[in-house]
Amino acid sequence: MCGIVGYNGKEKAVNILLDGLSRLEYRGYDSAGIAIRDKEIEVFKAKGKLSNLKDKIKDKKLNGTCGIGHTRWATHGEPNETNAHPHVSNDGNVTLVHNGIIENYQELTQKLFRHDYKLFSETDTEVLTNLIDYYYKKYKMGPIDAINRTMVRVRGSYAIAVMFKEYPDEIWVARKDSPMIIGQDSNGTYLASDVPAILKYTNKVYYIDNMEAACLKKDKVIFYDLNGDVVKKELKEIKWDVSSAEKEGFEHFMIKEINEQPEVVKKTINSLTNNNKIDLSKTGLKEEDIKRIKDIYIVACGSAYHVGVCAQYIFEDLARIPTKVDIASEFRYRKPILNKNTLVIIISQSGETADSLAALREAKNMGVKTLAIVNVVGSSIAREADYVLYTLAGPEIAVATTKAFSTQLIASYTLAIEFAKIKKKINNNYYQELINEMNQIPEKIKEILNNLTTNIQKIASKFSNIKDAFYIGRGLDYAISLEGSLKLKEVSYIHSEAYASGELKHGTISLIEDNTLVIGIATQEEIFEKTISNLVEVKSRGAYVVVVTINGKDVSKVANNTIMIPETNKYFYPSLSVIPLQLIGYYITVSKGLDVDKPRNLAKSVTVE
Ligand code: M6R
Repeated sequence: MCGIVGYNGKEKAVNILLDGLSRLEYRGYDSAGIAIRDKEIEVFKAKGKLSNLKDKIKDKKLNGTCGIGHTRWATHGEPNETNAHPHVSNDGNVTLVHNGIIENYQELTQKLFRHDYKLFSETDTEVLTNLIDYYYKKYKMGPIDAINRTMVRVRGSYAIAVMFKEYPDEIWVARKDSPMIIGQDSNGTYLASDVPAILKYTNKVYYIDNMEAACLKKDKVIFYDLNGDVVKKELKEIKWDVSSAEKEGFEHFMIKEINEQPEVVKKTINSLTNNNKIDLSKTGLKEEDIKRIKDIYIVACGSAYHVGVCAQYIFEDLARIPTKVDIASEFRYRKPILNKNTLVIIISQSGETADSLAALREAKNMGVKTLAIVNVVGSSIAREADYVLYTLAGPEIAVATTKAFSTQLIASYTLAIEFAKIKKKINNNYYQELINEMNQIPEKIKEILNNLTTNIQKIASKFSNIKDAFYIGRGLDYAISLEGSLKLKEVSYIHSEAYASGELKHGTISLIEDNTLVIGIATQEEIFEKTISNLVEVKSRGAYVVVVTINGKDVSKVANNTIMIPETNKYFYPSLSVIPLQLIGYYITVSKGLDVDKPRNLAKSVTVE
């Protein structure tokens, strides 16, 4: 999705804007642009990589200390320079960058045409720019009035940063359903769609709410509500350190983040336990809230949905709570049946995924309690849910999630164990045994990374030319197959499918031919033999079989390659088996020479529907 940055202060804006945009590259984009104000506002845009924009301005003297920047991921109109942001209103009065989508832009276009405005691009953003200009000139009541009138007139989602020709030392911003944070330090004020863009400069931020606007001056930020009244806000501290958003010697963010998993998993466990007992007090969930829960609905997208699939098995098996899991884009239109004792759990790394946010709102509208498992503090989902469980993965930059996924698994385990205890489905000894075993997960992940990376690299190097791959397993092994398969396809562009192994014979097995790669996950004791017999079936049809299983298991009759992981409690295997699967996705992609951190067509956080 698009990225926004802005700076107003004592330093030259150009360097801060370009640095910020480079830190937003991971969100995915196809053009970039900046507007810098010295005496006049100058706009520079380029199609393609940020380096094209840098080339364009390398000989310019840009001394302005106020500016806005944008990386665009095309939605309305093709990726070209005209459609790139910033957009400028017809007579240069308003310069604007925008994330999101204006749904009623066609109707607004007709309105602008009736007032003799011209449009040069194919974007909804240019419509928005001119609409602000229209209200600014019509009512002559200044920026906040023009922005507020525009906000009530447009439908859709937006985070905007605006410079008005007649207000030289100010940047104006507003948002609805699209992320934005505002930072401040002694050098000036900053804005960004995502924390890593400004973390190098400041970790002190304001959160701007939906349908609010703000004016960024060089030394302060003033917030306004929709009536134009001033809103007081507190500066909050973000606890992420700058190095967590840098590569620190790793070749890619994805491999750096894979290697950070022991540490962030440990941090997340520590934040959810106290004296070796689970402590959910930070989430706001109380014992009486948990006692009331009769069923659970987990809603999420992509990998977060796969965490939900794992959690479903554990909530049902361990805590005996009926649990459903749904993809957010389906849930929001499904008209699900929820009752007052349903707990809806929304899982999201970014806390800004449009469908997950809409699902949360849908659940709240039905009067149901919601719990968010979220990584980004202050994100929309975190702010709107009744209870929030923060994962402590730190900033995740690679588009393919790894460390956030692992911390979300921990969040699910702690909830399931605590719910099981409160609902008296497990005794104290087992409760303690589970916590003790959960505490071992970080070390076991480290052991896998230390002992298996080289072997997996070798296995992966054989598969850079394959066209298809299949991931199979049963129960929790099936759940993690879904994630393994997504990890491979999203970064390597190899077609890959995950199947519940028992389902193969109902169709998919006809796709198996000589040397088709099948990765079998076999960690669940009760169904181990069944998974192995499914693997024998594909092997006998020519498949090349890689088995991920537990140390000591003999799978030699079926495996061409074996990946052995340490033993743990049956519920925690997803945390261990996912590590080799992440490494397989990573190393196959690297051996294909692809951009593993920024796969084509994908964005880190999908903030539009
Ligand atoms: O920020 P979220 O966790 O809500 O994002 C959900 C998905 O977009 C995300 O998990 C996506 O599937 C990743 N690319 C997977 O690696």
